[in-house]
Amino acid sequence: MPDQHDLFSERSTSGTQALQPTTFRAHAEHLRSQIRRADIAYYVEAAPIMDDRDYDRIFEELSALEREHPDLVTPDSPTQRVSGEAQKEFRNVQHAQPMLSLQNSYNREDASDFDRRVGELLEGKQHEYWCDLKYDGVAMSLRYVDGVLALGVTRGDGVTGDDITQNIRTLPSVPLRVNPVFVGGVELKNFEVRGEVFMLNDDFVRLNEEREASGEKLYANPRNLTAGTLKLQDPREVMKRPLQLATYFLASDDMALLSQADNMRLLRAMGFPTAQHSRLCPTLNDVFAFIDEWETRRETLSFQTDGAVIKVNSLQQQTELGAVGRFPRWAFAYKYEAKKAQTRLISIFLQIGRTGVATPVAELEPVLLAGSTISRATLHNADYIAELDVRAGDTVIVEKGGDVIPKVSGFVSELRPTESSPFSFPHECPCAHKQALKRYDGEAAYYCEFSGCPSQVRGRLTHWASRNAMDIEGLGEKIVDQFVEEGFLRTIADIYRLHEQRERLLELDRWAAKRVDNLFAAIEASKERPFAKVLFGTGVRFVGEETAKILAEHFGSMERLVEATKDDFVQVFGIGERTATAIAAWFQSAENRQLVHDLAALGLKMHHEGRAIADAVTAVQGKTFVITGTLPTLKRDEAKDLIQRYGGKVAGSVSKKTDFVLAGEEAGSKLEKAQELGVKVITEADLLSMIQPENGGE
Ligand code: IVH
Repeated sequence: MPDQHDLFSERSTSGTQALQPTTFRAHAEHLRSQIRRADIAYYVEAAPIMDDRDYDRIFEELSALEREHPDLVTPDSPTQRVSGEAQKEFRNVQHAQPMLSLQNSYNREDASDFDRRVGELLEGKQHEYWCDLKYDGVAMSLRYVDGVLALGVTRGDGVTGDDITQNIRTLPSVPLRVNPVFVGGVELKNFEVRGEVFMLNDDFVRLNEEREASGEKLYANPRNLTAGTLKLQDPREVMKRPLQLATYFLASDDMALLSQADNMRLLRAMGFPTAQHSRLCPTLNDVFAFIDEWETRRETLSFQTDGAVIKVNSLQQQTELGAVGRFPRWAFAYKYEAKKAQTRLISIFLQIGRTGVATPVAELEPVLLAGSTISRATLHNADYIAELDVRAGDTVIVEKGGDVIPKVSGFVSELRPTESSPFSFPHECPCAHKQALKRYDGEAAYYCEFSGCPSQVRGRLTHWASRNAMDIEGLGEKIVDQFVEEGFLRTIADIYRLHEQRERLLELDRWAAKRVDNLFAAIEASKERPFAKVLFGTGVRFVGEETAKILAEHFGSMERLVEATKDDFVQVFGIGERTATAIAAWFQSAENRQLVHDLAALGLKMHHEGRAIADAVTAVQGKTFVITGTLPTLKRDEAKDLIQRYGGKVAGSVSKKTDFVLAGEEAGSKLEKAQELGVKVITEADLLSMIQPENGGE
């Protein structure tokens, strides 16, 4: 029975005639619309209509169809979210109409004044307000032409901003093509949307934790991380960061729009995520009720908001009210007080993480901050403390960094005790072994490099058992601490020998037989986790989940990893110099080699399921390529990725050391040079056949 693929393959038309290109085009469009609908359901409506596997299957089918028929690719295809190469700088673009600021205040009287002025200017005409939450993110303007995203521009100075279209396209919630909607019988196709790009609290915490684990500088809050991400020059990097969009503004020259409330409905119908929890407030009292309600409820939101935005609902009234300078007279921002508190800094101590990073932490006199009592706050690193010059005994300001992790953000100079001295960063690890701390060039963090340091031991065990690694239920931080103290656990391998201690475990308080056996079952079950998880779990510095996957896929087995050199790691696409050095160093250590050996003997997975890239390919591995001209299907960047992924190198100019020149159409002087030097010239098809497995493959 012909399946869908047969239907669309040229062979299956029983020899009569190949399917018309229009059929392929229609099928591609059909797949795209299915993906678009699924994206909106998932990202905008938070009500998925498709499971991941079906989604991936449709996506893959579309990708394959587009690969086979490159002329079918449209810029608004969901496969084209990453388009173009990394840019050196962003183009400046003028806004169609300036992006204004908002009058803002922490004061209710100012809000009443705003309402009174609106009433006066409208000469007593009835008016309603639309209340939004004020998203604490990065303002963005998106222009659509013919229903397709044409331009994404930052606010900049309000008059001109940066063209970051390439980056904005990667946000899955930004429609590349909108659903058709009609206003007064006319399709809304050319318009500008404004909104806020932001990051969810949980995503922010997770990304910062990853940075902390790898000794990188932490972002202060989700807004800074969002702003930093949008400025990245490589859209593929942007795509890796989970950014969200909330829209709150729509304008079009093609037709008259009526109200803010209507515009929000239109935006949603087109497939945009709109600001959440907004509502129409007919009177100032309703506005205050909205403000009061969200003053407390904002604690429960998954994103950051620093206030409420009050807007006159009627767009005609908005025009009547106009603007003064940079401020519209039809909108007002009521700001919530930042979540700050003052307290005394008792002392600064070091907390040692699993990879040995030493993070300075402030011990505080307990203080209530945004609904919870805090007695510790991070001071990030030595530079941060030096910059702030906070000292023990100071009265400090504590903030929730992006309202998530409490941090010390300053001190009250008038309250500084007469006798105080700047904090000097300790030279040694606080544990009994007193290992000298080390700081590498270019890194913000100090490290304790003694692997037997008890804090690191605990950290490593906890990390191994954590949800994203081996996911051993019942082996959390407290239990790990207890078991280390009791002498049951020292290395990760000891976890798998814990059953030998059954009798002793049963002697502990609150460890009845059932609990012990549940723990043993959870430990046993963890042996089924894939090789990439094992790698991630071992906790090599700079090796996050993603890098662990890359390593597993590339090398395929622990044996090959153990044998690999730093150079081999650097060759792997996606692994930088610093990470390569850390991985090589980790495998150099006799203790780590022993651990790997023990884990293998204890039955953990030491092989990647599926073919390893390094095993499969030898023709590209270690060879140097120069790319020139326009290739038939691959973009130059894609060809480069492909070569690097399979262990080849890409150079900029042809020399005797060049193994292959990959030439496309209109290849110029590099091709001539290759012919002169007798360097082998290959086509894209040659390259693709080179990455086919030579050794039999699957
Ligand atoms: S309306 C004429 N609505 O706040 C002003 N702005 O201080 C139109 N913002 O640049 C803006 N959430 O980046 C509006 N729900 C919301 C908002 C919001 C956040 C930002 C926006 C603007 C800044 C003004």
